[in-house]
Amino acid sequence: MTKRKHKEPILQSRYDELHRKNEEALTGGGAKRIEQQHAKGKLTARERVQLLMDEGTFEELGKFVMHRATDFGLDKEHYLGDGVITGYGKVNGRLVYVFSQDFTVFGGSLSETHAEKIVKIMELAMKNGAPIIGLNDSGGARIQEGVVSLGGYADIFYRNTLASGVVPQISAIMGPCAGGAVYSPAITDFIFMVENTSFMFVTGPNVVKTVTHENVTPEELGGASAHSTKSGVTHFASANEAVCIAEIKKLLSYIPQNCEDDVPRVPYTSANESRPVLNEIIPVNPNQPYDMREVVNGIVDDGSFFEVHKNFAENIIVGFARIAGRSIGIVGNQPASLAGVLDIDASVKGARFVRFCDCFNIPLLVLEDVPGFLPGTDQEWNAIITNGAKLLFAFSEATVPRVTVITRKAYGGAYDVMNSKHIGADLNYAWPTAEIAVMGAKGAAEIIFKKEISEAADQTAKLNEKVDEYTTKFANPYRAAHRGYIDEVIYPDQTREKLIRAFEMLENKVANLPKKKHDNIPL
Ligand code: HXC
Repeated sequence: MTKRKHKEPILQSRYDELHRKNEEALTGGGAKRIEQQHAKGKLTARERVQLLMDEGTFEELGKFVMHRATDFGLDKEHYLGDGVITGYGKVNGRLVYVFSQDFTVFGGSLSETHAEKIVKIMELAMKNGAPIIGLNDSGGARIQEGVVSLGGYADIFYRNTLASGVVPQISAIMGPCAGGAVYSPAITDFIFMVENTSFMFVTGPNVVKTVTHENVTPEELGGASAHSTKSGVTHFASANEAVCIAEIKKLLSYIPQNCEDDVPRVPYTSANESRPVLNEIIPVNPNQPYDMREVVNGIVDDGSFFEVHKNFAENIIVGFARIAGRSIGIVGNQPASLAGVLDIDASVKGARFVRFCDCFNIPLLVLEDVPGFLPGTDQEWNAIITNGAKLLFAFSEATVPRVTVITRKAYGGAYDVMNSKHIGADLNYAWPTAEIAVMGAKGAAEIIFKKEISEAADQTAKLNEKVDEYTTKFANPYRAAHRGYIDEVIYPDQTREKLIRAFEMLENKVANLPKKKHDNIPL
């Protein structure tokens, strides 16, 4: 910031004092710690904010805040801003609130005042209806402050919960986040991590070794790879911080500012919407896999699919896209992974995404090819019943426009769960390749014609005959279409055009749930 001049010397000294403080605040924990931060391949808290915000739009609040602690020598160690940069500004021209923790100041740890700064912008965000973005780089509660810093965390967790469903909340993990530093992100809508430089754990490797005798590195325990593939805690894992921030901006471009806002729209000129490429995707053999992403990309506006949770529970795909310029959320079974079966992880991943879309008025498109729920002791003992019910519940309570396209299998309970007409979907389409049945033809024939097959002279021939009979009767979309469970059976190449019209027709949908305090989704 350039130094200001004043013609009155006495006022000049006041101006100089402000200038000095502004300069001091920019130095965080000092040049040496900034150097250490850079040496680890990390940006400083301020550099991250600059990368995120449109140039010249960031307005900092609480720049001169200082902690009030006195124990353990803290009365002699103060840094202006107290380890977190907070304020508001614009991303792609739209208002956002941000906090960015400064690891160079007490390891970005959370003090009473650090927490107060974060709470201040959270409350502004809720009152003014704009997303909150947290750039987290923190060693957790400031150990020297004791319970006061624990209270500060709880103040934030409470606001995170109040803000949930009011404004989008996005967390980026950009350093070692331990203890309380992981629970605020866990309540928010989306978590981003950076490969190799960011970690999330409730207790670090040393505590793990003491308690469970496991030897584990920070990366193995809580790195981006572990959380994007094994635990599903993070939705995105980026190669570096610049990519991470670019991805946050991309995500923001698909979502509304708050729960009363409309979804963003980009200019779109209608053209020939027929997509013959969609006719080529379903294999002749119904048990052969294909990549549901090909279907997504054939339907949505060119290049607009932005996948969420890409490497976790790959048997279901979720993400945002645009159709005729307007944002939608997509949930699709993925035949290329575990035949697209629904298991615990897939159900939870899908349910969380559906609920985000429903909170923020984002219409839902479901692409269905599902052979059922995954059987087995592992799934049953880990509560596939409760977890599968989350997806069922999430769809059932969603009041946003909801459209389903059944591309191939819609078997058993999974037919009901995947946004069927019966649980409130608005429009349900099927391709001619759809098979809507209680189960696959072979399994069905083996059960219902067991006696007949076992008594036949040629058992294989009998089984094949019965499989054919069941296939002709049920492995198609027409029984469901006769009953109106399917609104129209369409050629794949028509899908995009039908969906453009469907979502346009549903644009002003009004649906209300029965009066209640809140629901009781099976957690
Ligand atoms: C105060 C802290 C701190 C903390 C780090 N520092 N964590 N100061 N409170 N929680 C300070 C260090 O003293 C050091 O100061 C500087 O930050 C950098 O820390 P280093 O250890 O040198 O860095 P590094 O080797 O990169 O290790 C980072 C780290 C480690 C993994 C985060 O510092 C660490 O394990 N910290 C403690 C984590 C923790 O247990 N936090 C409390 C969790 S309990 P100097 O002056 O040397 O630069 C909690 C309760 C809330 O959060 C629960 C709510 C549900």
